[in-house]
Amino acid sequence: MKTVRLLAMVVALLLAGCNGVQSSLAPAGDQSAAIDHVWQIMVWTCSTIYLFTLGALAWAIWRRRTVAMREGVSRDPLLSRALFAWVVLVVGLLTWFVAVSFLADRRLHGGTPDLEIRITAKQWWWQVEYLSPEPSQQFTTANELRLPRDRTARIELKSGDVIHSFWVPALSGKEDLIPGYTNAVFLTPRRDGTFRGQCAEFCGLQHAHMALDVQVTDEATFRAWAAKQLAPAPSPSSTTALRGAEVFNRTACATCHTVRGTPAGGRVGPDLTHLASRRTLAAGALPMERDAMAKWLDDPQHPKPGNLMPAVPLSKDDSSALVDYLMGLK
Ligand code: CUA
Repeated sequence: MKTVRLLAMVVALLLAGCNGVQSSLAPAGDQSAAIDHVWQIMVWTCSTIYLFTLGALAWAIWRRRTVAMREGVSRDPLLSRALFAWVVLVVGLLTWFVAVSFLADRRLHGGTPDLEIRITAKQWWWQVEYLSPEPSQQFTTANELRLPRDRTARIELKSGDVIHSFWVPALSGKEDLIPGYTNAVFLTPRRDGTFRGQCAEFCGLQHAHMALDVQVTDEATFRAWAAKQLAPAPSPSSTTALRGAEVFNRTACATCHTVRGTPAGGRVGPDLTHLASRRTLAAGALPMERDAMAKWLDDPQHPKPGNLMPAVPLSKDDSSALVDYLMGLK
């Protein structure tokens, strides 16, 4: 019974790995498709070779036992020729693998970008800046990446502290973000959907809680989203939210976070201008919900120990007003 359950778990895990939001086996873009192509070639060729090797080994043993022994020869010319052919085949296949990998690698770093984005990894979140030659068209968000389908984005990768690694398996391979050095990846998504990215280089205590929410939509939806992101933060819509804004600007919140269109201009933590329009909180650690937000503000070290956000001591009313304000930043 135990074995059956274990087997069922393994099968479920394997199936889960083949689809879903964070799988390189379900490619949703040109670059991930190029990697998947290499993977398919290698896995099927190597599996065939493995079975063939076992068959050849069995045949060689059989032949040695029967033919060679019976005829009393120490060298079997047929076996020698088979071995030579085998070496030629293996060398040929390895050369082919090298060529296929080289061509796939070239496809990963080419193309004319339609949009430029800069991602800066920090312990433990992602700063995402949409760049433009027109300064008024630039905006910053955090922990979410929106991309238009069938367009190529060039993503400049930087680090604000230690080495991290950018990895959205459904769209491309891994690329490190290194302090003092700029890397880049190209992403050309071909399928609408929500995908998950994850930091892929151990970067400290909350490495596992460093997720990136990636959404691919048609271009019109993307443009509408970008236009909304460009706008300053919406004004508080209720008296409690107004009080929350006052709390935000009076306390440590405003020294670390920016809310565009308000006096808050801190650059240490994520830009919160349209915080509530994101799907997650704390780089994927919590859902963007009122309760989660209240718990996060009350004790940020509980869900994500070691992160740089301190708990700001507030009265119950101030705290609830602050949640109202932040949940209104759509
Ligand atoms: Cu950042 Cu691991």
